[in-house]
Amino acid sequence: MLVCPSMLSADPTNLGQALFAVERAGADAVHWDVMDGVFVDAITFGSSVIAAHRGLSRLRFDVHLMTIDPDKHLKSFADAGADVLVVHIEACLHLHRTMTVIKSLGKKVGVAFNPATHWNAIEYCAEVLDMVVVMTVNPGSSGQDFLWNQLEKISALRRILPSSVEICVDGGISDQTIADCAQCGADSCVSGSYIFQNNDRTDDAIRRLKENCT
Ligand code: DX5
Ligand code: ZN
Repeated sequence: MLVCPSMLSADPTNLGQALFAVERAGADAVHWDVMDGVFVDAITFGSSVIAAHRGLSRLRFDVHLMTIDPDKHLKSFADAGADVLVVHIEACLHLHRTMTVIKSLGKKVGVAFNPATHWNAIEYCAEVLDMVVVMTVNPGSSGQDFLWNQLEKISALRRILPSSVEICVDGGISDQTIADCAQCGADSCVSGSYIFQNNDRTDDAIRRLKENCT
C-alpha cells in the first residue's frame, strides 16, 4: 500500500524539512489539503505554497481540493506542479466535465467522497477516473477518529472499479486502521497526525504503517 503523508499535519514553519524527511523515509506521494474556508471551515494552502515546494521533491504531489467550485482552481494547481488533482464529488455540479478538464491539463483525476456520499455516485464517470479518495473522516481537519462504516464503501468501489483506478483512504489512518483498509482493497492511504505526531520520528511512523498493511 502506498503511504502519502498529509502536509496539513506537518510543522507549518518547516514544510520543506518535513518534505525531505518523509521522502527520505520512503513515502510514496505527498498529500496537500487545500481548504477554502467555505466547503470546510479552515483555510490552508494556496497554489503558491505548493509551487514553492515542487522543486524540493520528486514525490508525486496529490492536491486534495476541499473547495466549492473547484473548476476555478484547476489550472493554478496544475501549474503549481500537482500530479493528481482531487475534487470533491459533492462540490462538482458537472463532475464529468470537471474530470475531463483535469485530464486536458495533463493531470491525473481524483474524486473524493464525503462519508455520507454513496459509492455509486461515480458509476457513470468511472472511465475518466484515475483515483478515488474515500474520506474516512469528515473533511476539514486532521486528528479525527476513523469512521469504520466506510470500509464497506472501499470494498464496493474495489468491486466496481478496474484495478488501474487507485483507491485511496483519507482520515484517521494509523497502525490500528490501515490493515482493514488494505484488506478491503485500498491501494494507498493518506496519513497526517499519525505520521507527524512526532516530527523527529516520521520515519518510524511511515515504517509502522507499511508493516501493518502487509
Ligand atoms: C481531512 C484531510 C486529511 C487529513 C488527514 O480533511 O483531507 O487529509 O489531513 O489527517 P489525519 O490522518 O490526522 O486524519
Ligand atoms: Zn486530504
